[in-house]
Amino acid sequence: MKQIGVIGAGHVGLVTGACFAHLGHSVIIADNDRRKIEELKKLQLPFFEPGLEPLVKKAVSAHRLSFTTSISQLTAESEIIFIAVGTPSTSTGRADLSSVEQVTVEIASALRSLEQKERKKQYRVIVEKSTVPVLTGEWVQRTLALLAPEKENVDIAANPEFLREGNAIEDFFKPDRIVIGTENMRAEKIFRELYAPLSAPMIFTDIKSAELIKHASNSFLALKISYINAVSQICERVGADVTKVAKGMGLDHRIGGAFLEAGAGYGGSCFSKDIKAFIALAEEVHYPFTLLKEVEAINRRQQETILHKAREMLWNLKGKRIGILGLSFKPNTDDIRESPAIFLLQSLHQEGAALQCYDPKAMNNMKRLLSFPKYCKDPYTAARNAHLLILLTEWQEFKKIDFVEIKKSMKTPRIIDGRNFFNPCDLRNLGFIYKGIGR
Ligand code: UDX
Repeated sequence: MKQIGVIGAGHVGLVTGACFAHLGHSVIIADNDRRKIEELKKLQLPFFEPGLEPLVKKAVSAHRLSFTTSISQLTAESEIIFIAVGTPSTSTGRADLSSVEQVTVEIASALRSLEQKERKKQYRVIVEKSTVPVLTGEWVQRTLALLAPEKENVDIAANPEFLREGNAIEDFFKPDRIVIGTENMRAEKIFRELYAPLSAPMIFTDIKSAELIKHASNSFLALKISYINAVSQICERVGADVTKVAKGMGLDHRIGGAFLEAGAGYGGSCFSKDIKAFIALAEEVHYPFTLLKEVEAINRRQQETILHKAREMLWNLKGKRIGILGLSFKPNTDDIRESPAIFLLQSLHQEGAALQCYDPKAMNNMKRLLSFPKYCKDPYTAARNAHLLILLTEWQEFKKIDFVEIKKSMKTPRIIDGRNFFNPCDLRNLGFIYKGIGR
């Protein structure tokens, strides 16, 4: 059993902490948001993630998981300290690393105030868990060396997370790979022990390579999505079906079928931010990564595609009523950050359409951001009297929708399927005018 500290109680930190506690370690999670920590102590989670709540509850009642606002308490108690604070985009696209710096400074100060004797005895490894640009590890190292010069027994490592929201618990316990950037055998041994129960392939690299693996992977996944979205545009223009093209491509094991689903574009807190940060980093080292700029541009155009389709179907948007199914950036999460729904709702509203939305989990978050749509209790209310229904997020529960009922209550039976989620023939047979993406 190891003493683990996790700084940052966001998606990454909370999932990582709860999962390590589940593996039997003693975990303390710190966050400077007092309210969040108070709520976590009362077992109230700050966001929805399937399976997380029972994991947290179990670990807390077994006294393996606790919460604090004090980084110095966490530093004193922990052998492994994960930094999992936010690294948002600045206005230039660079990652804002001020929280990482702040946390490093606080760890250094905590190390300084530990008794000399204790410091020498206890080995600690400080681990970058948040997505950070390459060379961040060097800055953490430099900052520690400056502020805690007598730090003995402290090493730095990078262990990027690859957790998908909505699937994070499974991704933690069954990862495709575990990446560890460390230049020290002692730290390597700790990580081998820590991750042994997961029996996933582990790759050990230098810190810079580990940092790069994260940005390179996320950018590549976004590239795959933009690629298939671009192909979907060609499919539409020539009358082919992108879902069949993707299937045919994906069966080549060098390509692989995952992340080849054309749709309303990618969203979420990671892809947009990470691509921007990777482009900015490339520029700093004098490499114009124009390929990634195009990935972004295709994604923006893909979001506009839905708007164009709405205009094509309805002629004038002014005075039309539009039902929206799905607001989160993908299913199984209440997260709306960078969700394609935001752009679409704003654009449709600007053109004078009345909007009625439904999402199983994300309505409260969207309500805080946009007050103009009507938020409905179910898909049927969202479709009532609508001239058009648009699906933006492929929640499984939408598969159960009774479209005979929906058709009866709509003003005109038109549907845009922004995720190619429904069977076009079924809907057309029911009398719907159906438009998907690239088919
Ligand atoms: C992503 C990475 O997958 C994860 O490894 C990383 O650590 C964090 O960022 P996440 O943002 O939770 O995870 O979602 P993901 O499942 O990757 O989907 C991102 C977006 O791409 C969603 O908006 C999704 O709808 C879209 N997407 C995904 C597509 O449009 N088509 C696809 O084929 C796959």
